[in-house]
Amino acid sequence: MLRRLAETTPIITRRGFAAAAASLVPVAACPVPAVSRAVGALAGLDTIARHKGLFFGTAVDQVLLHDDAALMTHVAAECGMVVGEASFKWAELRPTRSEFDFTEAERLMTFADHNRLRVRGHTLVWHEGNPEWLVEKLTPRNAERLLVRHIHEVVGHFRGRLVHWDVVNEPLQPDDGRADALRDTLWLRALGPRYLDIAFHACAEADPGALRVLNDFGMDYALPWQERRRGAMLALVSDLLARDVPIQAVGLQAHLDAVEPLPEPGVLSRFVDDISSLGLRVFITEMDVRDDGLPADTAIRDAAVAEHARAFLDAVLASRGVRGILTWGLSDRRSWLNEKFPRKDGLPQRPLPLDVDLRRKPLWSAIAAALAAAPAR
Ligand code: G3I
Repeated sequence: MLRRLAETTPIITRRGFAAAAASLVPVAACPVPAVSRAVGALAGLDTIARHKGLFFGTAVDQVLLHDDAALMTHVAAECGMVVGEASFKWAELRPTRSEFDFTEAERLMTFADHNRLRVRGHTLVWHEGNPEWLVEKLTPRNAERLLVRHIHEVVGHFRGRLVHWDVVNEPLQPDDGRADALRDTLWLRALGPRYLDIAFHACAEADPGALRVLNDFGMDYALPWQERRRGAMLALVSDLLARDVPIQAVGLQAHLDAVEPLPEPGVLSRFVDDISSLGLRVFITEMDVRDDGLPADTAIRDAAVAEHARAFLDAVLASRGVRGILTWGLSDRRSWLNEKFPRKDGLPQRPLPLDVDLRRKPLWSAIAAALAAAPAR
């Protein structure tokens, strides 16, 4: 099985990397920061990150994994960690109630193994990315058995091979009106808030070595609804810890928007410090930068996106609680943002570090510079 997978998964050969490395030469507008020069202008973002005890990684779309060897060469060159954009979700793993299909997830594992990349699992419990049979068949009577079996089977399948699991994704939704700010999801309706306890304990049982992460979005800006979410996240993780739920880390997705107002830098570093003070690590798990509020001109957009990302990263990396950064894709060749938030002028968004020709953009340099400037962990 793995042999067959190996034949279809792009393996980065030395020659392939050398050929692609030629294209790694930074675009003129992207000065390579000192650290990167120190370790050679080919240094990828993860190489720069490791100098500060951090890591850099990205999400991998399964279609691009299969079809875009050039992009995957750059993923191998820039990253130390990868995560499946959809391949580890219920919808991909569970075609039917009785079946588990690890094909796509194992293809990512094979790519990661051959390129010595670590892998994080995303995600065991979410209100999206579920197969229709689950949404139709889940009841208060069968939910715990279904959830525990899924987690034991899936986490057990990858036991010892993943560094993190996003155990629960996006549990918060203060607008749903609950005092605990939990989102009204199929899991909450079936099991109540203890679905979180069940999930984290089941993950710990199946693979004690994989770090257990609670992952959510919307905690980045000086906006009332995001301030509420920051407070709700702190309250939730404090409550989980008080109930001896084995949570070990928080993932801040950081789907940024170049026109939104970042808070005073101290606000984000204090937020991360507050989470860290509970004994939890913090990861930036899905960073990209929406540019649909910016003018069409690519030089203007790229500069504004880079400046925004740099300010955000400087603010969160000021806290040693942040241990790593992942973007939600590496190149503008594909981003969920084009489906979810298409630009009115019809132009593709430019939210990621490499452009469609896999050249480093100002955003690449902003991430590199923020990593190089971060206090060592
Ligand atoms: O794999 C099937 C393919 O067989 C089928 O032909 C095709 C057309 O229906 O669909 C493919 O599945 C799609 C999957 O991505 C893989 O490409 C799903 O329809 C599509 O809904 C899914 O979208 C993903 C979404 O999560 C839901 O899982 C996006 O790519 C992904 O970027 C997005 O990622 C989320 C994070 O998990 C959580 N944070 C927010 C982030 C953005 O929404």
